[in-house]
Amino acid sequence: MKVALGADHAGYELKEHVKRWLVEHGHEVVDFGTDSTDSVDYPDYAFAASEAVSTGKADVGVLSCGTGIGVSIAANKVPGIRAALVNDPEAAVLSREHNSANVLCMGGRRTTPAQANAILEAWFATAFAGGRHARRVDKIMKRDCRSR
Ligand code: RB5
Repeated sequence: MKVALGADHAGYELKEHVKRWLVEHGHEVVDFGTDSTDSVDYPDYAFAASEAVSTGKADVGVLSCGTGIGVSIAANKVPGIRAALVNDPEAAVLSREHNSANVLCMGGRRTTPAQANAILEAWFATAFAGGRHARRVDKIMKRDCRSR
């Protein structure tokens, strides 16, 4: 998959870890920054990576900030984005199976590299289940002007 990455200063190190994991697992990465631990504003990076997903320039996105909360709130303002804040592998599976999440959000101050690996394994291995879940996701996407 082509994966858009974005993070603020508090998510920078986790983003770099995620980037290594993705490349090792055969994914293509488009990194929208940030590029250091210097203080920045998480919406700028969440919006840039999410727009790439929304417009089809990337298949999915992975975002991080300190908690993962800020980037998930920002990403969900972008049309076509279903961003899920995920803290464990079970939530990773369910965010894909039930919610068809196309952006994964994690907290750099909450999630260790080992926990991130388990979340990434689960998230990228799981597909949308469709069925009754499709009806629900469709209701959400009808609120969008872009429904990718
Ligand atoms: C930055 O200190 C922090 O507020 C940010 O990374 C994030 O956790 C916001 O939700």
